[in-house]
Amino acid sequence: MLKVEDLTVYYGKALAVKDVSIEVKDGEIVAIIGSNGAGKTTILNAIMGVIKKNGRITFENVDITSLDTYKIVNMGISYLPDSKTVFKDLTIIDNLRVAFYKSLKTEGEKGFRQKLDGIFEHFTNLEEKIKLKAGFLSGGEQQMLSIAQSLIREPKLVILDEPSAGLSPILVKDLFNIITFMKNNRLTVLIVEQNVNKTIKVADRVYFLKNGRIIAFGNARDFRDDSIIKKAYFGG
Ligand SMILES: Nc1ncnc2c1ncn2[C@@H]1O[C@H](COP(=O)(O)OP(=O)(O)OP(=O)(O)O)[C@@H](O)[C@H]1O
Ligand SMILES: [Mg+2]
Repeated sequence: MLKVEDLTVYYGKALAVKDVSIEVKDGEIVAIIGSNGAGKTTILNAIMGVIKKNGRITFENVDITSLDTYKIVNMGISYLPDSKTVFKDLTIIDNLRVAFYKSLKTEGEKGFRQKLDGIFEHFTNLEEKIKLKAGFLSGGEQQMLSIAQSLIREPKLVILDEPSAGLSPILVKDLFNIITFMKNNRLTVLIVEQNVNKTIKVADRVYFLKNGRIIAFGNARDFRDDSIIKKAYFGG
């Protein structure tokens, strides 16, 4: 579905990402794991057409390397950046309505309500506060709302940049339940995380990134007990 080939990014003269190749197949949960400054967000920004890069990126066999970001989004990629944004003056339900707005024209309010029911099965804390302005939610709750917003758009591919960052342990648990739900529903997800153990549990395949380079990759289950890779990643 998504193919990144030989991606290299410089910020000025500083190398951020070097010769990174990543593939995400239909229905897979793929994770990029790396510590601070490894180049994770840079890869995602390159995919989304936000920064200059070398290499080739294709989505469903269409070359998107030089496409504008809005066109990439319209192709069905939903990107949740690390700086999650919700409309603070809008209620939770209106935030979700705005996210659904494109489909609202074809599916109407009834379609919206059906999607909402599906969403709230997994975001019960949001359902309780449906009429509350998003600005009153805690940071973690706002983050969950922005994930709900990206899901209600029913994208083909969801890209998440460190969704667990800043969440309380309970919300982290909710989040990984939601990712498991995505997996069971054959949603395709590219997730960037520092939370190695939890991510390895839900992902199908993982790439380990260090200093802008992929140092190891493969089936997530092969890394679950791999102290060598964890040492390489942590101890580096
Ligand atoms: N706009 C920029 N200009 C210059 N250097 C940048 C810019 N953005 C990122 N960098 C540098 O590129 C490297 C990779 O940054 P990036 O944000 O991709 O890392 P990351 O893996 O997402 O880290 P984190 O886990 O902290 O979010 C870092 O050394 C960072 O300082
Ligand atoms: Mg980052």
